[in-house]
Amino acid sequence: MIHYSIEELLKNNQSWAAQKRALEPGYFEELSAGQKPPYLYVGCSDSRMPLTRYTQTEPGEIFVHRNIANQVSLTDINFLSVLDYAVFHLQVQHIIVCGHYDCGGITAALEGSTTGLVDNWVNPIRELYFQNQSEIDCLSTREKRINRLAELNVIAQVKNLYQTSILRKCMRENNAPQIHGWVLNLKTGLIQDMKIKTSIWGLYTPNSELLSSSTSNNFER
Ligand code: CO
Repeated sequence: MIHYSIEELLKNNQSWAAQKRALEPGYFEELSAGQKPPYLYVGCSDSRMPLTRYTQTEPGEIFVHRNIANQVSLTDINFLSVLDYAVFHLQVQHIIVCGHYDCGGITAALEGSTTGLVDNWVNPIRELYFQNQSEIDCLSTREKRINRLAELNVIAQVKNLYQTSILRKCMRENNAPQIHGWVLNLKTGLIQDMKIKTSIWGLYTPNSELLSSSTSNNFER
C-alpha cells in the first residue's frame, strides 16, 4: 500500500473541502452548528476499521470510541466519559460494538505475540480465551481460532456495556439505547450483525423486549 505524505494529506483535505462546498455551499456551516448523532461506535483502533467508510456515513452521524480490540472496560475513564456523554447528552439511539476478524489485539491475547502495555491491555481477552479454551482449541485453523475469539470478544464487550452504571441507569428508567454486536470481515469488507441474545444474561430491565428481541443467534454457540 502506498501512503500519502503529510503534505499530500493536507492537499487532499483542501480538495475534499472544496468539493463539499461546491456540492453543498452550507455544508460546513451546518456541521459546525452542533452534533446530534444517532450512533455511538465502539471499535478497534486498527487503521482498517473506520466505520464511516464501511457504512457510507458522513461527519455528524457516528460518535466514536476506539481502542485496541474494542474493549468495554468498566474502569476506563476515557471510555466511560464517552459513553456517559453519548447516552445522557447526545442521547444516541444505538450503540454499536464492532470487532473484526484478523484483529492484532485478539491475536496478541491468544498467542502472547506482543510485549509491553498492549500485553496488559488485552489480558481480559486472554481470560476470555481461557474461559472458552475447549471450544477454541478444537477449531481446525489458526485463523478460525483468532476469528472465533474476536466474535466472543464482541459478545463479552456487549455484556460489559450492560454492566456499566450508565446502561444500568438507562434500563431502570426504561430508555436504554439499543446495543448491537457486529463483526467486520476484512477479507470481504462486510459487516455481520451477531444478533446477540442478551436475555441469557439475566440482566435487569423493565423492557424485556429490548433484551430478548433476538431469537436467532448464530454466534453464541
Ligand atoms: Co483489531
